[in-house]
Parts: sequence; structure tokens; C-alpha cells
Amino acid sequence: MVDSLKKPTFEELRPGVKAPAKETILTPRFYTTDFDEMAKMDISVNEAELEAIIQEFRVDYNKNHFVRDAEFDQSWEHIDGEKRQLFIEFLERSCTAEFSGFLLYKELGRRLKDKNPVLAEGFNLMSRDEARHAGFLNKALSDFNLSLDLGFLTKSRSYTFFKPKFIFYATYLSEKIGYWRYITIYQHLKAHPEDQIYPIFRFFENWCQDENRHGDFFDAVMRAQPQMLNDWRAKLWCRFFLLSVFATMYLNDIQRAGFYRSLGLDAREYDIEVIKKTNETAGRVFPVMLDVNNPEFYDRLDICLKNNQKLTAIVASNTPKFLQFFQKLPLYLSNGWQLAKLYFMKTIESPSVEGAVR
Ligand SMILES: [Fe+2]
Ligand SMILES: [Fe+2]
Repeated sequence: MVDSLKKPTFEELRPGVKAPAKETILTPRFYTTDFDEMAKMDISVNEAELEAIIQEFRVDYNKNHFVRDAEFDQSWEHIDGEKRQLFIEFLERSCTAEFSGFLLYKELGRRLKDKNPVLAEGFNLMSRDEARHAGFLNKALSDFNLSLDLGFLTKSRSYTFFKPKFIFYATYLSEKIGYWRYITIYQHLKAHPEDQIYPIFRFFENWCQDENRHGDFFDAVMRAQPQMLNDWRAKLWCRFFLLSVFATMYLNDIQRAGFYRSLGLDAREYDIEVIKKTNETAGRVFPVMLDVNNPEFYDRLDICLKNNQKLTAIVASNTPKFLQFFQKLPLYLSNGWQLAKLYFMKTIESPSVEGAVR
């Protein structure tokens, strides 16, 4: 084996500070919104439930959870080669996603402080949690002799603007899918301690409860704004967000199957499980669920996956750029077609519509 394979090298901003991964359509996003519109939101119809969730936030169950114990205190050089590279990528992606939550919630907390104090307090307390999560992941990166410059990330990343309604669909889903991702890894490793190759995963049990509570907060906000959930537009948008969140995760994770393999997990099975659970959870508040048990759902995603692999190979080739464009075009069109077919697949009416299940 070549040495460079044993110890992957990363582009650095300064010694030990990793240059952020290139932004693509599949990397974690940073968001901004219309703060005035958010401030004017009337949440009074569900204020009691929101207050109850905020009270849970105040209790701060994980105040003393994110403390590195002795197990971290050893050399991690034996995680090497491709495994090390995938590990670092996982930590970076997770840290970036957590930090993106922190930035958005912090800014919302600040901007809504005087105009919508209940929402503002919820956002502030969630930003406290996300700061801990991001910090803990960044500290884990230091075990691999790297770190992320989060200040630099704040300034250098582009921000996606979403109207408040879309912020709620997107953050609700990302919190709930985050919950299922963490708990599924945690439960697998609990059952297979031999696969526990790095201590951070032991922290996922309490950690995922933070994400679950955050998701519940957004659930309660959306219920306070029934027009976000009960018309035909809501159905179309919820469908859109479910599909984009599921497809992004699937395409990302299967590409990095080696990371999941190093934890004894099959990336595809893991994703199918996480998608199934998140879809069911989302059905408690969203008016539609996707038919993720239909094999067509994954058949189409697998075509996109193959297209993406071909796209990566084209970009890495020596073919002149203008020829690459014509090689890439049919693959982009195929991805667009598959995603459109997925979007128009028959959906399932969710329990939330009948009002039977909460
Ligand atoms: Fe988090
Ligand atoms: Fe969260």
C-alpha cells in the first residue's frame, strides 16, 4: 500500500485546519429567511404546547452530556487509509450540518427577541444544543489532527434563502431524520459492541433526544399555522421536501458505503430504515407520506446513483470540458426524469389527515 493511502492528506487553510469540503448540491446547506415575516407569525393557537416543549429545553437534560471521557484519550492512527478519510468526511459533514442549525437558530433567536419572544426563546435554546453538537464533532476531528474553522465557514459559505414556511418543513425534517440517523447507529452499535471503533457513537443516545425535541418544536410551530399543513400547496411542498431530504441522504450515504461498513452497517439497509422511520414520523404532522415501501422508489434512486457515479468519472477524466458537457447532459436529464417520476409517484395519505394519531 502506498503511504499516502495510509494517511490521507487534506487541503488545509492553516496547519491542522481543514479547508471546508467543496459545496455541491449534496453538501449540508446554510439557510436564511424572512425574519420580519417570521416575527409576525401568530403562534397563539398552539402556545401551550410550544411552552411545554420550551420548558423541556430549559431543563437542559444534556447539560453535562457532551464531555469527552478517557476513552477519547488515545491514538487514532490505526484508523487509516480510506477508512480514515471517510471518518473525517463524516465528522466534517455532521459538524457542518449541526453548525448550520446553530447559525440559523441563533440568528432567529436574536432577530425575534422583542417581536416574538416565545419563538425566540425556543430558537435560542436549540442553538445552545446545536453549538454543543457542532463543538463536540469539531473536537472529534482534532483526534484526527484536524479541525474546522467555523468562523471562516460562517463567512465563506453561501446561504440559501427560504421563506419561513419552507424553513419549517426543512428544519422539521432535518431534525427528525437526524434523530433516526443517530438512534439507528446507536442501537446497532449497542447490539454489536465489536463495531464500536470510536467513542463518539456512544453519545448518540442522549444526543438524538435533543434532535427529537427540536423536531417536536417545529411540529408544534407548524400546528400553530394550520395553513402550512392543510391545503393542496402544503401537500405538494411536503412531498417535495420529503423527497429532497430522502434522496439527498441516500445519494450521499451510498457513495460513502465504506464508512457505514466500518461500523458493521450496510449503508443501503441503514438508509432504507432511516427513511422508513422518518417518513412515518413526518406522517404525524405532514399531510402526505411518500410510498417508500414501493420498490420503484429505490429503483429510481439507484438509477440516479449510477448516473452520479458516471458523472464523477467524467469529471475526473481527461476529456476536454466542452465534450464533458455533452457526456454529462444525458445523465443530468436522466436524474431529472427519475426525480420527477419519484415526485409524481402516488403518495400515501398520512394519519395526521384523519387526525387519529398524534
Ligand atoms: Fe444537533
Ligand atoms: Fe437539532
